[in-house]
Amino acid sequence: MTFSPELEARFDKLMRSYPPGRERSALIPMLLYAQDETGAVTSALVAEIARRLSITPLEVDEVVSYYSMLRRKPAGKHHLQICTNVSCLVCGGRELFEHASRRLGIGNKEVTADGQFSLEEVECLGACSWAPAMMAGYDYHHQMTPEKLDRLIDSLEKKHGRDAV
Ligand code: FES
Repeated sequence: MTFSPELEARFDKLMRSYPPGRERSALIPMLLYAQDETGAVTSALVAEIARRLSITPLEVDEVVSYYSMLRRKPAGKHHLQICTNVSCLVCGGRELFEHASRRLGIGNKEVTADGQFSLEEVECLGACSWAPAMMAGYDYHHQMTPEKLDRLIDSLEKKHGRDAV
């Protein structure tokens, strides 16, 4: 499996960040960086990372299954994660998720037909003090309302010239 020179450089740096024999500690960041490039954690990617870290594909699969930010299927270009855990739930997180679902026409863990947006209901994002919280890609958005969510989606659509949903 071949990766971009930038990703190879990141892998090299990560592998050198840990003492000899402990390179497997680079597993999660390697998977995240690779996922950013490939769109999803495929079987081929699992095998390649396992080979580089001298661990078994099963050990990699176990980590991929555990962490929700690692995906087996590609997400949309803009991946929206909306928290519906307790703090966000009482502050409108459920309504926010349902609003996003209606606006985009997709359900949990689905991708819009044009591949631009995906939506996911998630557990606590660690931003309970600013509930309801959500993420668009790696960016946090706090104290969200349906109106703020609409503006966010509008701005992401404009950024990439997409027709309004
Ligand atoms: S409960 Fe939503 S960020 Fe913690």
